[in-house]
Amino acid sequence: MFGKSKGLIGLDIGSSSIKIAEIKDGKRGYELNSFGMVPLQSEAIVDGAFMNTGAVVDAIMDLIQKEKIKTRDVATSVSGHSVIIKKISLPQMTEEELEESIQWEAEQYIPFDINDVNMDVQILGEDDTDVGQMKVILVAAKKDIINDYVQAISEAGLNPIIMDVDCFAIENMFELNYDIDPGQTAVLANVGASIVNINILKGGVSTFTRDINMGGNQFTEEIQKQLNVSYEEAEALKLGGELGGPSDTTEAIIPQEVGGIIRSVCETLASEIQRSLDFYAATSVEDQIAKIYLCGGTSKVPGLTTAIEGKLGIATEIINPFQSIEIDEKRFDINHLQEIAPMAGVSVGLSLRRIGDK
Ligand SMILES: Nc1ncnc2c1ncn2[C@@H]1O[C@H](COP(=O)(O)OP(=O)(O)OP(=O)(O)O)[C@@H](O)[C@H]1O
Ligand SMILES: [Mg+2]
Repeated sequence: MFGKSKGLIGLDIGSSSIKIAEIKDGKRGYELNSFGMVPLQSEAIVDGAFMNTGAVVDAIMDLIQKEKIKTRDVATSVSGHSVIIKKISLPQMTEEELEESIQWEAEQYIPFDINDVNMDVQILGEDDTDVGQMKVILVAAKKDIINDYVQAISEAGLNPIIMDVDCFAIENMFELNYDIDPGQTAVLANVGASIVNINILKGGVSTFTRDINMGGNQFTEEIQKQLNVSYEEAEALKLGGELGGPSDTTEAIIPQEVGGIIRSVCETLASEIQRSLDFYAATSVEDQIAKIYLCGGTSKVPGLTTAIEGKLGIATEIINPFQSIEIDEKRFDINHLQEIAPMAGVSVGLSLRRIGDK
């Protein structure tokens, strides 16, 4: 009725950097219109809460200007302990009836005061294991976190239209780029700076989600502690950079030491992922996981893929969020885009959302 649906920009407000992606529906499929990222000062976002909204607003405005973005409507996402995702089984009813009754139903599934959260429900279909029941996905997010996002985005002059969840944005990005085997179970893990978003897909349908409070910061902090350097120096060492300058007193640090620390944090991270998969295995019918797909900046840590494969015995690969997206080589530096691609997962997934979709 309204012709082609209008696009949105996908805005991923991560704790280490903000990413923006815009994808248009081109003649031959999806086309990349813009992608960019700007670093965010550490401590601006802690545990998902905005400690310095001004810094977040400035970074968003910077990015919009740098990437010359004209679209004002935004899809963004939250994650972490302020978000609850539950699959529940309810008596069959219409969507309207569900919307009405969920306020009463939800209380037993949400560990927060119902007045402190925004809720969303979606009917997934009939419950095969229970006649007359249907499966529903319930998502609740703390209002104060949502408000942080809405306020920062509005202050940056943009319209927050869609509020999603990181792990579902990753799922949308993955569906676009990879063929889904209906008989297979795959794990998507977005390993960021402060959080790992896990989403287990069974035949392409999300069956388990969990966020782990761990990520790239642990590598940096461990290097900082063990080698007695500043956080910035530790981050540079982690990224393979060298320390230099006249005030540099750390020339004795050899890459081997850094490598050892990185390897040991990789082991810890792999164990944490293992724990989540064990938890999934305990709550679901027997099920073999075929593959682990990684994204997020920390998926670039050398040896993480191998550490996960070694510990879990499951093939692991890094996702390319741009794999099935048309990219104009005259407009984008392809090599640079490939370098930063792991960090683009959430924003690309968000940019696929359209106004009014479910
Ligand atoms: N080449 C690299 N090698 C190792 N680590 C890297 C590399 N590039 C980026 N990282 C790390 O990836 C992390 C950033 O990843 P990402 O952008 O996915 O996180 P974020 O979205 O900002 O954080 P979060 O979602 O956890 O709040 C940082 O910890 C950064 O140090
Ligand atoms: Mg992130």
